[in-house]
Amino acid sequence: MGVAHFAAENVLAVVCELERAFAIRLKPGLVEELHEPSDETPPRWLSYGRPPSELSLHTDYPDWPSPPRFIVMRCISVGRLPVETIAVDMSPIGMTKQQAKIFMEEPWVIRNSGKPRPIRLLDIDRRTGRSCFRYAENVMRPRFPSHSHGVAALSQVIARQVAWAHVLWPGEYIIIDNWRMLHARRAAAARPLVWHPGKGRVLQRTVLMTEHAYDPTYN
Ligand SMILES: [Fe+2]
Repeated sequence: MGVAHFAAENVLAVVCELERAFAIRLKPGLVEELHEPSDETPPRWLSYGRPPSELSLHTDYPDWPSPPRFIVMRCISVGRLPVETIAVDMSPIGMTKQQAKIFMEEPWVIRNSGKPRPIRLLDIDRRTGRSCFRYAENVMRPRFPSHSHGVAALSQVIARQVAWAHVLWPGEYIIIDNWRMLHARRAAAARPLVWHPGKGRVLQRTVLMTEHAYDPTYN
């Protein structure tokens, strides 16, 4: 997997060609700025209280009925040390049948919701047949933790892969398929050949929905 470099004005056009995606408005605007770390990070976010070089693998907004299909992040500035964005493929083709069965059948619930809302790690869209994987440890939990195999299966799938990793540089964009890839951040395994330390890592993020909302099969 490589890194595609697009001119800023072409990013949305490229994604729109992929899936007729559209951006939605997040508070306070269409594009939000992520300062890592920041005192302004909402406590409910996975990144709350985490250092800039650490964030566990997750998908964004897994608690939404239809999570956003694409996440677009643009690097504004870097911190003192290089931090890389990593991604791991969770499409069913990379799983065993047993793992896919666990992800699709094991009952999970959304954390912190008044009435536990059922959710699955993996689902297949009824209309398109497209898979959607969702996971974030701060938002989801197994409904029956003592009988759960989901986290172990997740670790097995991740362990079989070499994560894609890239140190985002100011001006670079990354587009993540949020139905297919888990993403995270960590201290860079290797220092880039050219590195100019910055005062803080700041990314801009917007999410892109697809024309067809995700339609889970387990309601
Ligand atoms: Fe994220």
